Amino acid sequence: MKRNILVVDDEKYIREGLVAALELDGYNGLQAENGEIAWKMVNNQAIDMVITDLRMPDMSGSELLKRIYSTYPTIPVVVLTGHGTIEDAVTAMQNGAVDFLTKPVNLDHLSVLIKRSLAGKDMADKNRELRTELENLKKKSGYTSIIGKSQKVLKLIETIQQIAPSRASVLITGESGVGKELVADAIVNYSDRRDKPFVKVHCAALNANLLESELFGHVKGAFTGAIADKKGRFELADGGTIFLDEIGEIDPSTQIKLLRVLQEREFEKVGGEKTIKTDVRVIAATNRNLEEEIKKGNFRDDLYYRLNVVNLPVPPLRERKEDIFLLATSFLNEFCKENKKNIDGFSNEARSAIAGYDWPGNIRELRNCVESAVVMCRGSQIELGDLPPAVSRASKTDSVEIELGTTMDEAEKRIILGTVAWCKGNKSKAADVLGLGRKTIIRKMQEYEAAP
Ligand SMILES: Nc1ncnc2c1ncn2[C@@H]1O[C@H](COP(=O)(O)OP(=O)(O)OP(=O)(O)O)[C@@H](O)[C@H]1O
Ligand SMILES: [Mg+2]
Repeated sequence: MKRNILVVDDEKYIREGLVAALELDGYNGLQAENGEIAWKMVNNQAIDMVITDLRMPDMSGSELLKRIYSTYPTIPVVVLTGHGTIEDAVTAMQNGAVDFLTKPVNLDHLSVLIKRSLAGKDMADKNRELRTELENLKKKSGYTSIIGKSQKVLKLIETIQQIAPSRASVLITGESGVGKELVADAIVNYSDRRDKPFVKVHCAALNANLLESELFGHVKGAFTGAIADKKGRFELADGGTIFLDEIGEIDPSTQIKLLRVLQEREFEKVGGEKTIKTDVRVIAATNRNLEEEIKKGNFRDDLYYRLNVVNLPVPPLRERKEDIFLLATSFLNEFCKENKKNIDGFSNEARSAIAGYDWPGNIRELRNCVESAVVMCRGSQIELGDLPPAVSRASKTDSVEIELGTTMDEAEKRIILGTVAWCKGNKSKAADVLGLGRKTIIRKMQEYEAAP
């Protein structure tokens, strides 16, 4: 679809000349002779960009700029300026103009400026859209901080809501970093145990003996160092929920004890004789394939069936790519606040790399990636170079985009620059691929560098 660009100038021949140039460049050129008329047009139709003179009768260009900038901050405004009014242009830039053009207008310069401004607008629009979407999502999801709009995540949240009220044990499975702990939090929050104790145990962090006494407690003198009676996590969680993270790592003797709690709802402390009754809901998580572990003899099958009354598989991020930018935007907000930075969003190149990457470390990796990008970022958007190398390498380097309406010169430029990048900067190789001489490539690249 053609983009609408509005030219505002009280001098008819300048207006018409610019509109004609815009039409030749493949845009839909609109015109207005003063700020008043232009402001009405901006309010009544979809204008993608405004190019305005500063000094005009009725409403001036600077007044128009102020109104557009405060009401439609993503519409780029470029101001036109004659000789001797450069200072006005500088003021206009401070008031939100994206750039200025001096009269007489250099049409090549204009063309570059428009492309850059429209790309900036598209990015800003996309980021605003994402932020709004994120806010709406947060308003809706009172009991969970799981972010996502993919069918897979919506289905997951629906299942969580369904199973939360019961006392049934839940086994959450999925790769590292997919959000298993967040799922456990959500189950508790959606259940009526939400105000009761919620105890989390990281099973892999403790060795066998310690884990057993951590879970079930011990009596004084049960082993060296047991100087007093100690309550275990099951006792502390009574009436509430226990989350056993990395359940695949627990040793055989603790497995037996755990099975008994699940079956009989009772246990004894290490070294103790008194049987303790408990009402605890068990949620377990693992990134191992427990069925494999059963086959290998590392995990008891009876315990597995007790734990796996409800199975919640959490899908990896690469299977729900629709969620990536919603998550990335949320992390961007979080880390901008933490680092006191103002970053609007991700550049197109950064976006394409993030979308193309496989995310083996899932959401945790995405979160870390955004955090480091925020720290690296020096401008108002995250650039490709701000991303960790593993991610930036995923940028699409095997194609260039050429929209209809692109001039041959511009197309040639994109193909040459794209091919050189694709050949990792090796100009001789790029020349071979393109069927051109190496000297030609070098000359062209010098020309591109010299151009605005
Ligand atoms: N859907 C989501 N929305 C928002 N944040 C998420 C989401 N999923 C995961 N996260 C965040 O990603 C990080 C990793 O999540 P979490 O610790 O729950 O993963 P995990 O599956 O338990 O990983 P591991 O197996 O390595 O323990 C956390 O900071 C978590 O808050
Ligand atoms: Mg975890």
